[in-house]
Amino acid sequence: MHHTRRTLIAVSLSLTLTFAPLVTAFAASPQPAKGEHGMVVTAQHLASEVGVEVLKKGGNAVDAAVAVGYALAVVYPNAGNIGGGGFMTIRFKDGRSTFLDFRERAPLASTKTMYLDKDGKPVKGASLDGYLAVGVPGSVAGFETAREKYGTLTRQDLMAPAIRYAKDGFVLEQGDVASLEGGAERLAKDPAAAAIFLKPDGKPYAIGERLVQADLAAALSAISEQGRDAFYKGSIADGIVKASAEKGGILAKADFETYAVRELEPVTCNYRGYEITSSPPPSSGGVIICEILNVLEGYPLSYLGAGSAETVRIMVEAMRHAYVDRNSALGDPDFVDNPVEKLLDKNYAKEIREKIDPFRAGVSQELMPKGFGESQETTHYSIVDNDGNAVAVTYTLNGSFGAAVVADGTGILLNNEMDDFTQKPGVPNLYGLVQGEANAIEPRKTPLSSMSPTIVAKDGKPFMVIGSPGGSRIITITLEAIVNVVDHGMNIQEAIDAPRIHHQWLPDTVYIEPFGLSPDTEKLLAGMGYHLDVADATWGQAAGILVGGKSLADIEKGGGARYNGAIDSRAASGKAIGY
Ligand code: DON
Repeated sequence: MHHTRRTLIAVSLSLTLTFAPLVTAFAASPQPAKGEHGMVVTAQHLASEVGVEVLKKGGNAVDAAVAVGYALAVVYPNAGNIGGGGFMTIRFKDGRSTFLDFRERAPLASTKTMYLDKDGKPVKGASLDGYLAVGVPGSVAGFETAREKYGTLTRQDLMAPAIRYAKDGFVLEQGDVASLEGGAERLAKDPAAAAIFLKPDGKPYAIGERLVQADLAAALSAISEQGRDAFYKGSIADGIVKASAEKGGILAKADFETYAVRELEPVTCNYRGYEITSSPPPSSGGVIICEILNVLEGYPLSYLGAGSAETVRIMVEAMRHAYVDRNSALGDPDFVDNPVEKLLDKNYAKEIREKIDPFRAGVSQELMPKGFGESQETTHYSIVDNDGNAVAVTYTLNGSFGAAVVADGTGILLNNEMDDFTQKPGVPNLYGLVQGEANAIEPRKTPLSSMSPTIVAKDGKPFMVIGSPGGSRIITITLEAIVNVVDHGMNIQEAIDAPRIHHQWLPDTVYIEPFGLSPDTEKLLAGMGYHLDVADATWGQAAGILVGGKSLADIEKGGGARYNGAIDSRAASGKAIGY
């Protein structure tokens, strides 16, 4: 199926015209990493090494995921965290799967209009900077739950590398330095954050210098010794609550004491014979990926080719329709009734296809539901072990370095996840998402997420592990990686590196990565009525694994590497390591 007309033409031409650029919409990619026993792909090379060491020691993929989660909190401070939250999708070797939701909750004292002034206008920055932006963190509870239920090694074993990197420091490379520079201005505003992440002279660290995080080492050691209570019931919670009270926040000790992880059924769907397992509400990710895939299933994408105007048109329309549902209907399942069954129904996808005009761009305003009143800021990692257990984790502080505040003495950067809520129906958030009542703020509610840690299986066996940061674009990044492998025959690295497009209903714009489409293709799309925005920067940092070969062709041929890992070429400090 992957031998498309276009790729065959490209292959035969490339034999004769070796130097001509033939397919503009493909990135030239390095080879994926290979492994026969395990694979760890994360956004920071030291964390990838930590994961591989755990696997080599006999830990399973969940053990590795927990160790990587704690390690990234130290070596990838812009998104790795214990002051934020996230999701873990697990597919066990026997085919069962589960999902851990350790995302933030709104504080008990939060209110629907907490980010609006007395005239009902959003207060600039209130949901993004400082303590009022902070949701109750879930990462420590999440990792502890994962380890206790599905891991095999001790907490001390899994936390030791993170503690070591915090205490002794680690040497900064180019990607690490770029990230710290990016956060410098916001981090400088909080004395405790500045004391850790900036040099004593207030300047960002340089390549080759060492970042030591002594307070974080102490906090991690306390958790290692006493377990999650050290974070939620002990001095860490006290420190954060005190700082919050002093600096305009509303976090209370009861918020920490009552925090609970939810174990949920993942969302599943079938796309052209591949079984997709992904994130359920409070993420929109799995539902919306499946909704889009269901629509796409009715079109011969493989024949139409990657990056063609027809393929882009179809993908954009599927995205447009699915994001209306995302932004109007979904929210925390403890608070709203999510129409998951309807959105995953193949007949509903057929209804959407019937509404798509084959010649002209759809119009987002016409899809406005009745009564409806960007990056490296998150991180995703993918792991498989020798037994075939697969784990996909996406976790975040939301924006880069979150709310950019650290409570004195804790060393812990806190999230600004509250911005993912609807502050006011119709008002766009950090990612330009225009959302509705289903995602309004309520005490203890979790804001709707786009994070999509996803595992694809084929014939009952793991096939692909995939996910990415990228705010509202996480969904389309993850989706496009799957389509690139399944429909377009790309290898896992090419599938991740290929230029991206994105549409999220509102604004009614097709976002295109730099050099993502040829000028001819753009002209065709503009002629159909699409508003195109060729971005000046790329987005996302996907981390993926393909099992059995690096591409469908490689798998069919037999003899490909068992595990094939790819970190996005857009990622500055990541690494795929197999063994
Ligand atoms: O949960 C979400 O959808 C967002 N908080 C994710 C943020 C993100 O990916 C930022 N990185 N680019």
